[in-house]
Amino acid sequence: MQAVYLPAFNPSPSSLVPSTVAIPSAKDDDYLIRITHCSPQHADILHANGKHQNVHAKRGHVHPPFILGYDFAGVIEQVPSSNVAARDLVEGDRVIGGRIGAFAEYIAVPRNAIRRIPDGLDSASACAMHGVAVSYASVVEVARVKQGEAVLVSGASGGLGSACCMVAKAVGATVIALAGDEEKAKAMRRDMDVDAVIVNTGDWIQKVMDFTGGRGVDAVLDNTGMVNDAIRCCAYSGTIVILGFAARGGVMEDVKMNRLLLKSITVVGYRYGESGRRFPKQMNEIWDGYLKMLADGKLKPLLYGKYEGLSSMGRALKDLEERKVYGKIVVSVAGEVERSKL
Ligand SMILES: NC(=O)c1ccc[n+]([C@@H]2O[C@H](COP(=O)([O-])OP(=O)(O)OC[C@H]3O[C@@H](n4cnc5c(N)ncnc54)[C@H](OP(=O)(O)O)[C@@H]3O)[C@@H](O)[C@H]2O)c1
Repeated sequence: MQAVYLPAFNPSPSSLVPSTVAIPSAKDDDYLIRITHCSPQHADILHANGKHQNVHAKRGHVHPPFILGYDFAGVIEQVPSSNVAARDLVEGDRVIGGRIGAFAEYIAVPRNAIRRIPDGLDSASACAMHGVAVSYASVVEVARVKQGEAVLVSGASGGLGSACCMVAKAVGATVIALAGDEEKAKAMRRDMDVDAVIVNTGDWIQKVMDFTGGRGVDAVLDNTGMVNDAIRCCAYSGTIVILGFAARGGVMEDVKMNRLLLKSITVVGYRYGESGRRFPKQMNEIWDGYLKMLADGKLKPLLYGKYEGLSSMGRALKDLEERKVYGKIVVSVAGEVERSKL
């Protein structure tokens, strides 16, 4: 099969091209999936160049050689014999999933790595939304955003940021999206359902305060690493959820602790993957809520550009690195093959 295979970390992920490797052999409890779509995210770039926390020599689990990629949609080609009796998923079912090795034509994964795609949702959109279930977890479960509250999202053009905006709107919040530049802000105002898009330059914090009538926001979903700025944007007793550090280039900030006390602010980190490994029951509840929002049409996946075939993955990673993207890139790998309904 074709796959974006890394024999070693690569400092320039945009130069990656697919090569021919063996189709993975499904072990006892594995499902073999024919991948129809995959979706790159910021973490894939860090995995490729060896800068993600998951590549840490002691704590990590992503080491060369490996096939890059995490989020995929596909069709079940083979069900493990151990699960044939349960038949909750069968050959031909459309599924989404997450496991290292997704930028490929096939992947073999355990049952807990895949979920059925709701009827009526196309596989490309489902693939786009798979990797950003973090948005539902962080907005609904961690920040506990309520109807009528004001929410600020940093890195709002990104995959996770744009999904945070959608989930916050779906629960009835007023959403302020931060954008890197005016050009992207224009596209976001046109294509995203948010209440304000503010460009992250100059007096942007004052603009957030003005928009909220001087009160500040109830919650900040921070994808870029701006806790000190988030404190200044928060209302009294607000919550800041630390999701990522996309803008920090690996250098962490020192936080003004006295300002947290003065405003009674809660700062909470949320690590989706590890939380899922430790608390699978809670993760299933998160997915039930998230898939229901998707199936009910409350979240409108925002797909950026056109990327056909694994050979377009280098361009996709380049566009991500260059911050051109708003919403999610989905790379089509193969045509959708639906199970016969006869
Ligand atoms: N906590 C978790 O469990 C979890 C799960 C998934 C991802 N993450 C993290 O969440 C963050 C967002 O991930 P993503 O996949 O949504 O990334 P993404 O699609 O690349 O989006 C990141 C956004 O951050 C903004 N940004 C500002 N400065 C940047 C810089 N120097 N480099 C790159 N982007 C910059 C960009 O928007 P503008 O150009 O408009 O500023 C960009 O759209 C990443 O840090 C990722 O590692 C965390």
